[in-house]
Amino acid sequence: MNLTKITTLSATEINEIFNIADAIKSGRQKAKMEKKVLALLFEKPSTRTRVSFEAAMARLGGSSIYIDKNTSQLSRGETIGDTAMVLSQYVDFIAARMYKQKDLEDLAASSTVPVINALTDTEHPCQAISDIYTMREKSDTLKGKKLAFVGDIAANTANSLLVGCTAMGMDVVLVGPESCKPNAEYLSRAKKSGRVEVTADMHHGIEDADFIYTDTFVSMGQEGEAEKRRAEFKEFQLNASALSHAKKTAFVMHCLPAHRGEEITSEVLDGKMSIVTLQARNKMIVEGAILIYLSSK
Ligand code: CP
Ligand code: NVA
Repeated sequence: MNLTKITTLSATEINEIFNIADAIKSGRQKAKMEKKVLALLFEKPSTRTRVSFEAAMARLGGSSIYIDKNTSQLSRGETIGDTAMVLSQYVDFIAARMYKQKDLEDLAASSTVPVINALTDTEHPCQAISDIYTMREKSDTLKGKKLAFVGDIAANTANSLLVGCTAMGMDVVLVGPESCKPNAEYLSRAKKSGRVEVTADMHHGIEDADFIYTDTFVSMGQEGEAEKRRAEFKEFQLNASALSHAKKTAFVMHCLPAHRGEEITSEVLDGKMSIVTLQARNKMIVEGAILIYLSSK
């Protein structure tokens, strides 16, 4: 079984992953990855996803091999299909970070071992699953809780959270400038399972949210439009003034890396509402659970 998109998993399957994550977190989970090898095939930079997958694998008794696309034969024209076929002879899982979702899906189509999306331009499913786990840890129930995603509401993280959160019974409000249109396919899918609102009104968007989430205004690959994007999203910074309209009990989330002073101020990122350190910690726990889950299918 592959995990190429958030829609690969049903709510029941996500809950099964959460149960494994609970077992890992409480120390009840016996190591399950002895002699297993994970390849990390990355086309874009990473700190968290790379290290959390490697650390999860090591803690569960397995090992990992990091492959930078630029130092692999992919950089000299070997096809994705041939690469997937060859890697499948050596490893038990491939976690890939690629620009194009289609490349990731082509990799999965030619692989005989599970392929995991470690971020594409379209999706960041492991991040979303891990972040929903963090929300679950901070709530009595996910049902009826509201996530406000603020800023680049067309980003990969926004897409995966939108569909993942609504599948788990949450409401989602996307808060961004009129010029930024959410992905129509993800929006329509999310609307089939939950309540979704899109607004350019920051005050209205965050006032009754339980979780207020932001991501960079300039995703990897968008560096050429950085100045334009910073200007476009400027009004959607999470700062003390914006958060004065939020519930006192709301939590602030960010997948990181943060660009302090752009999408979020240091005061908010390091402040009392922020749960970004827990998010970072839980990435390793949940990715370990994803590996165990996929190996059982
Ligand atoms: N959140 C996240 O995916 O971070 P990295 O780019 O450092 O992996
Ligand atoms: N939207 C960001 C997420 C980084 C983890 C990016 O794609 O750069």
